[in-house]
Amino acid sequence: MRAWTLTSAGLTLSPSHPLPGSAPPTASSATTQSQPTITGNNLLLKITHAALNPVDLHILRLFPHWLPFRRNPTPGFDFCGRVIGAGPDVDANEFTVSDVVCGALGAGDVFWGKGSLAEYLLVSSSLVAKKPKTWGGLNGRNEVSGEEAVGLFGIAGQTAVLMVQTTGVASDADWKGKRCLVNGASGGVGSILTQILKGKGAEVWGTTGSAEGEELVTQCGGKVVNYKDHHPVTAHLAELFGEDKLDFIFDCAGSQDMFSQSPAYLKKEGKFISIAGGPSQGVVPYVKNKLRPVWLGRTPREFELLLLIPGKKTVREVGRLVEEGVLERGLVDGAVWEMEELVKAYERLGSGRAKGKVVIRVGK
Ligand SMILES: NC(=O)c1ccc[n+]([C@@H]2O[C@H](COP(=O)([O-])OP(=O)(O)OC[C@H]3O[C@@H](n4cnc5c(N)ncnc54)[C@H](OP(=O)(O)O)[C@@H]3O)[C@@H](O)[C@H]2O)c1
Repeated sequence: MRAWTLTSAGLTLSPSHPLPGSAPPTASSATTQSQPTITGNNLLLKITHAALNPVDLHILRLFPHWLPFRRNPTPGFDFCGRVIGAGPDVDANEFTVSDVVCGALGAGDVFWGKGSLAEYLLVSSSLVAKKPKTWGGLNGRNEVSGEEAVGLFGIAGQTAVLMVQTTGVASDADWKGKRCLVNGASGGVGSILTQILKGKGAEVWGTTGSAEGEELVTQCGGKVVNYKDHHPVTAHLAELFGEDKLDFIFDCAGSQDMFSQSPAYLKKEGKFISIAGGPSQGVVPYVKNKLRPVWLGRTPREFELLLLIPGKKTVREVGRLVEEGVLERGLVDGAVWEMEELVKAYERLGSGRAKGKVVIRVGK
C-alpha cells in the first residue's frame, strides 16, 4: 500500500528544510504489506482522508525512526475511510462492510508507528463512529463529506468535546446565556469548539489575529476579538468583560498571561480550561496554575489542563452533535492536500496559522 514513513532523523520544519525525515510515497518508499488477519473487534479500513494535528509534529520531532519499537513509522492520528473487513467480535448491527467511519488513533498506536497516512488501516471499532450522511441542522439537505468529517471526528473535534464536558455544565438548557471566550478560535480545535458552544446556546467570543481568522470565527458563530488590533489582549478583555465577567475561558493557544490576568474578566467561580501545555508539555503550567497555593502567587481561578485520550465516548459524541445540528460544518484550511503534498501540508500546520483543519486526500 501507499503509506508515508519516517526514514531518517533530524527533523527541521521550515520551508527551506522540509521534513527531511519523511520520504514521499513513491514506489521506493511505499510499504508493501499483505492483507492482515482481522481479529477481535477490529475493522480494516480503506482510508479516504487523514487530517493533521500539532501532536503529529511533536511525535515526528521527539521519536526518531530508529527507536527499536518504531520500524518504518507512519504518522497521523485522524482518519476517515470505508470498512472493507470486520473482525469476529464486531457487532454487525453497529458496523458492516461499506460503512464510512471516522475517528482518531490512540497515542500508543502512533508511537509504535501505525499512523493514518496510509491507504489501509486496522483499527479498533471502539475508536470510530459512523460518518453521518447529512448535517442534522440543515434538515438533511447537505451531505457530510469525508474531508469535513475527518477533522470533526479526529483529535480536534474530540478535544473540543472533552473541553465542553470538563465544564461540568449538565444540560444544554444550562448553556443558555453562558459567556465563553475561546482563545485560538480559528484553529483546528477552536473552530469546532466555538461551533459547539454557540450551538448549545452560549454567547461566544473568539480570539484571532487575522482577517481570514475573523471570517472563520464569525462563520462558527463567535464574536471576534482580534489580538493584533488590541494589544495587550488581556487589557482589552478587562475592558470588554470587566463589568459582566466570563463563565469560561477555553485556551487553545497557550497563554499564561491570559490566565494570570483572568480575575479581571473571569468570574470567581469561572473555569479556565487549557489544552496547550507549551514547551514543558504541560508540566510548568500545571505546577504554576494548579498545584501552587494561592498564597505563593497562584491566580485565584480554577485551572484545568486536559489531555485527550481518543475513544468511544468522545468520538460518538461528535456524531451526536452533527446529527443534532449543533455542529454544522467542518472547516478545512484552504484546499485539501493530495497525499504527495504531505510535507507542504505539515509546513502549513507547523506555521501555526492554519484556519480550520489541514486535510490530506489519501485515496478514494
Ligand atoms: N491537550 C490535548 O489533548 C490537545 C489536543 C489537541 C490539540 N492540543 C494543542 O492545542 C493547540 C491548538 O491545536 P489546534 O489543532 O487547534 O492547532 P492549529 O490548528 O495549528 O491552530 C492554529 C491557529 O492558532 C491560532 N493562533 C496562533 N497563535 C495564537 C495566539 N497567540 N492567540 C490566538 N490564536 C492563535 C492561529 O490563528 P491566527 O493566525 O488568527 O492567530 C491559527 O488559526 C496546539 O498547541 C495543540 O498541540 C492539545
